[in-house]
Amino acid sequence: METATVNHKIIIAGIGPGNPDYMVPLAKKAIAGAKALVGGRRALAQFAAPAESGQKTLAVTRDIAGVLAFIARELVRHDVVVMVSGDPGYYSLLDALRRNFPVERIAVIPGISALQLAFARLALPWHDARLVSFHGRRPPESSLSYVPGTILGMLTDGAQNSKTIPPLLIAQGWPKDARLHICMRLSYEDEEIRTVSFAEAMKLPAYASGILIAEG
Ligand SMILES: C[S@@+](CC[C@H](N)C(=O)[O-])C[C@H]1O[C@@H](n2cnc3c(N)ncnc32)[C@H](O)[C@@H]1O
Repeated sequence: METATVNHKIIIAGIGPGNPDYMVPLAKKAIAGAKALVGGRRALAQFAAPAESGQKTLAVTRDIAGVLAFIARELVRHDVVVMVSGDPGYYSLLDALRRNFPVERIAVIPGISALQLAFARLALPWHDARLVSFHGRRPPESSLSYVPGTILGMLTDGAQNSKTIPPLLIAQGWPKDARLHICMRLSYEDEEIRTVSFAEAMKLPAYASGILIAEG
């Protein structure tokens, strides 16, 4: 039993921003062959094998302890594939898995981050960009500071969005006429990208759970 556990891997597959065309073939292969598959409800609906296949699945909820227990149980018998959105290295379950399993048990298949796709859509290099997450967290003020030419890429959530973030940035010295690229539903058919000033963004309805890129 011990030996089996030692040999099996947790394969964390980045599934990209949503549309499977943006997923690497290796991730598709791992997911298609998974005997145990973990992921968000939407990802499971899209990628899980038919019920008669015998594939075991678990939907990720706020019960992370439950997810870890499922993985530990399944790992005794076979590899476990965990699907995460975008790239596993940028704000995903990878953190929690590293804290709970030996790193040698973990294999990561990279994915295209929603941030990467946003920069690509704008044809804007991201080598000089500062990246932060407002998804369920507040980045430190020092990471929001402004000097002319700053490019700031942001994940957002329901509460911290295109309406609430510009005033926070203005308080850190960003000008009101700085540009804000609002990138929503990237890779889907109803993808929407618009560019406005901070001042305009504060007057518009909130765009939530997308990517914001600020250019100062
Ligand atoms: C928990 S974070 C996961 C980030 C992911 N690991 C990545 O690399 O993109 C979820 C956030 O990613 C962003 N996101 C994910 N998919 C997106 C998409 N298709 N379009 C725009 N933003 C997206 C949103 O900011 C969302 O709140």
